[in-house]
Amino acid sequence: MNEIEAKIKALREELEQHNYNYYVLSEPVISDREFDIRLKELQALEDVYPEYADPLSPTRRVGSDLSKDFEQVEHRYPMLSLSNTYSEGEVREFYSRSMRLLNEPFEMIAELKYDGTSISLIYEQGRLTHAITRGDGTRGDDVTANVKTIRSIPLKLRGDNYPDRFEIRGEILLPWAEFDRLNKEREEQGEPLFANPRNAASGTLKQQNPTVVASRKLDAYLYYLLGENLPADTHYDNLQIARSWGFKIPDVIRKCYTLDEVFDYLTYWNVERKKLPVATDGVVLKINSLYQQKNLGFTAKSPRWAIAYKFQAERAVTRLNSVAFQVGRTGTVTPVANLEPVLLSGTTVRRASLYNADIIESLDLHIGDCVYVEKGGEIIPKITGVDSATRTKLTGNKVHFITNCPECGAALTRPAGETAYYCPNEAGCPPQIKGRIEHFVSRRAMDIHMGPETVEDLYNAGYIRNTADLYTLKLRDLLRLERWAEKSAQNLMDSLEASKTVPFERVLFALGIRYVGETVAKRLAYAFLNIRQLQQASLESLMQVSEIGERIAQSVLNYFADEGNLSLIGRLAAYGLQMSVDETVLTGRSNSLKGLSFVISGTFAKHSRDEYKAIIEQHGGKCSGSVSSKTDYILAGDNMGQVKLEKAAKLGVKIIHEDEFLKMLDE
Ligand code: IVH
Repeated sequence: MNEIEAKIKALREELEQHNYNYYVLSEPVISDREFDIRLKELQALEDVYPEYADPLSPTRRVGSDLSKDFEQVEHRYPMLSLSNTYSEGEVREFYSRSMRLLNEPFEMIAELKYDGTSISLIYEQGRLTHAITRGDGTRGDDVTANVKTIRSIPLKLRGDNYPDRFEIRGEILLPWAEFDRLNKEREEQGEPLFANPRNAASGTLKQQNPTVVASRKLDAYLYYLLGENLPADTHYDNLQIARSWGFKIPDVIRKCYTLDEVFDYLTYWNVERKKLPVATDGVVLKINSLYQQKNLGFTAKSPRWAIAYKFQAERAVTRLNSVAFQVGRTGTVTPVANLEPVLLSGTTVRRASLYNADIIESLDLHIGDCVYVEKGGEIIPKITGVDSATRTKLTGNKVHFITNCPECGAALTRPAGETAYYCPNEAGCPPQIKGRIEHFVSRRAMDIHMGPETVEDLYNAGYIRNTADLYTLKLRDLLRLERWAEKSAQNLMDSLEASKTVPFERVLFALGIRYVGETVAKRLAYAFLNIRQLQQASLESLMQVSEIGERIAQSVLNYFADEGNLSLIGRLAAYGLQMSVDETVLTGRSNSLKGLSFVISGTFAKHSRDEYKAIIEQHGGKCSGSVSSKTDYILAGDNMGQVKLEKAAKLGVKIIHEDEFLKMLDE
């Protein structure tokens, strides 16, 4: 194999790996820009050396997000990508090429390029019939059930001037505020964080459980109408009309006649986009007239009538001083780069996330390297590349992921299929112990008034080695420590005492079982009522609880299989913590629903489904899973199943909503 052929082969393999990281794992390792540069490099080589062509080259496809769990559907019109550029020069070229090819005046439409996951929505007779992901561009996953949970997507259209059948394409996005909320929740549950809203959106769309999707508040912006009898003959007018049918069409799209107008739009949005509720990564320019679009046509991968200009992520160059490895509450080991402080989009950056071992490896980092730091869609800055040209003899050693825990020395483990390394020494590794205690005392858990420094001090002084030890603390122990005055010490002692009345579901959350966050803890508490029954639950019975899948169920089993955890729970119970759901909440508060049969469907705002089930049963009512002639009421939440609704209508079953239901209870 000659040098060129070897280079082409290596590039293809590398790009395939990045495609896999991005589309399958939703865990990109390099920036989009880096990827685009390499793809262009490969394209250029393939153009010059057609003898090494390969129909399976990464240049011949638009990436795949196919997953085997959804039904796959062929796109009537392939879902192509856009040709991307970072240079104003190429925008000028797009303009002059269009002028040359069309040889007549034309209008351009400038829009924002939304950074989410693309979707094709199919409407027949004004009703949403299919929602298909891009997939490999030719076939995509049918994610209709999930997409129906997105409130901004109309299920039935308004007005009556829409074609019998058409498609509308756009971007599904997770707004920044939701992204932050979701990551906070994942952090509390010891789950890996989403790197950016795009990954969070595509991960959410691939969820098997539509109720999880519904809880995440995705949004959708639409920007492309396709069909045989569209209402207008320009892109712009079609979008305006589609807006009247109920679609969320961005209102920041502009008609441009000159390049100057285009560049004004680019300059303006490069700054203003930071104020938008969703992530954007560029501007898309489209020729407005559909007739002219048709004349310009398509290349194999993208339309000639459009181009995407990507905003340059803000980037700085600085020196890598060292790499630290941090151990979290659940034992995850996170590599963090310590950098020579550098100014980046208005803040001084000292540290950057390195995510995992694969990323360190692919960057080929050495201590002392000059590295590129970017703050793109991500909140935490990240290292996107190394300037290897500046490497000298004085540059330090190559960075390797550690093999042993930096805190306790235990050999790290990496579960199959995961990118993270863990320290398995749960019982003896200090940051894990301290992290668990910090979680236990936190406000939403046991609400014991002590911060991380106090945990640290008490741990170092040898007073606490686990959460149960907190309840052996004496006022005089605290007063022996530095900085403790009588008043604050007493305050802590009082909050410890008060924590004994914290309800069972919060105690369960406080234990810090992996994947058991606040909501899951609540569900488990109501389903099993006390710690003893939960401890004895089988995998199957755990999985019967709504929204609890195998991963959570297995984690609960693992927790209770551990002798250390059992003795800890024994001690906590002995100190008087609540280990069962409050009796007064549970036992027959009334018989007001006696003889009534309910079916609960949909999602609710005030209580979870399990809570409603418990409430109905506490008041003497019965719950069943399916609607029949014996059903008296359907307690209906949002997104209630269509089948149940139709059946209820046919059988004349009464439908009540949660507020009415709660009122009925009061009465
Ligand atoms: S138009 C024929 N308009 O960018 C292509 N795409 O690389 C029609 N995107 O797959 C797409 N904002 O997911 C278009 N205003 C916009 C867009 C946009 C984001 C995404 C879309 C597409 C990708 C192209």
